[in-house]
Amino acid sequence: MRLIIHNDSAEMSQWVAQYVVDRINKHKAATDQPFVLGLPTGSTPLGTYAELVKHYQNGNMSFQNVVTFNMDEYVGIPQNHPQSYYTFMWENFFSKIDIDPNNANILDGNASDLELECKNYEAKIESYNGIDLFLGGIGSDGHIAFNEPGSSLSSRTRLKTLNNTTVLDNARFFDEDISKVPTMALTVGVGTVLDANEVLLMVNGYSKALALRHIIEEPINHMWTGSALQLHKKAIIVCDEASTHELRVGTVRYFKGIQKLNNQNEFQSS
Ligand code: GLP
Repeated sequence: MRLIIHNDSAEMSQWVAQYVVDRINKHKAATDQPFVLGLPTGSTPLGTYAELVKHYQNGNMSFQNVVTFNMDEYVGIPQNHPQSYYTFMWENFFSKIDIDPNNANILDGNASDLELECKNYEAKIESYNGIDLFLGGIGSDGHIAFNEPGSSLSSRTRLKTLNNTTVLDNARFFDEDISKVPTMALTVGVGTVLDANEVLLMVNGYSKALALRHIIEEPINHMWTGSALQLHKKAIIVCDEASTHELRVGTVRYFKGIQKLNNQNEFQSS
């Protein structure tokens, strides 16, 4: 696992966006060879989406041959609800880039058969030979997507009940009224995320510090589902200084040292 520490979330977002652009361009995405990108919602990726829009507008890349799969969606609110993840993605990202709407996959939390919806989602991911790069964030309890503490680390896309911490965390998007926050969601599983060729988690702010410690320094544990990334062959966590607050000084120095050497090597080989 790589840990890349930036001064603040603006720097983090720029770095992640550049990473995504490089990956898509290197893939030489074409109709018969789309780049398959997994996407999160939440406040954390907003900066990255804004940076990606800038890259698109500056002509650095195109999303025409990019297929996306969102991580999760609420159950119990209409698709056009201001806080649905469908609305979030179209308002903050998809409407501002040249993605083919048919290529932007989001779980339908209003499907008549939710189990079938999840099964079909997995099958659709499979039909593209899996996800090339899965971007994600984490909840303050260390969850990825909506894989709450106690989720199976080999779980697949399914219906999940959200826990109190997540409902309280998300009340900020629902007028601070927990009675308005959906308590169920469809989510890709931890296993679905781990199957991606690459996984990149963005972590920022002091409120994620404890979760980051559990993901990086503590053993793999289903109570901190993001820690399953330790099993992944190519996982990167990109974070800001504030979120490193609970890490050991030695851990921070270790990863910063590696990053310094990586930067020097990249500079020498360019
Ligand atoms: C929700 C989403 C997660 C996201 C998390 C953190 O639980 N399902 O995918 O990582 O919120 O959101 P934020 O970035 O707003 O802290």
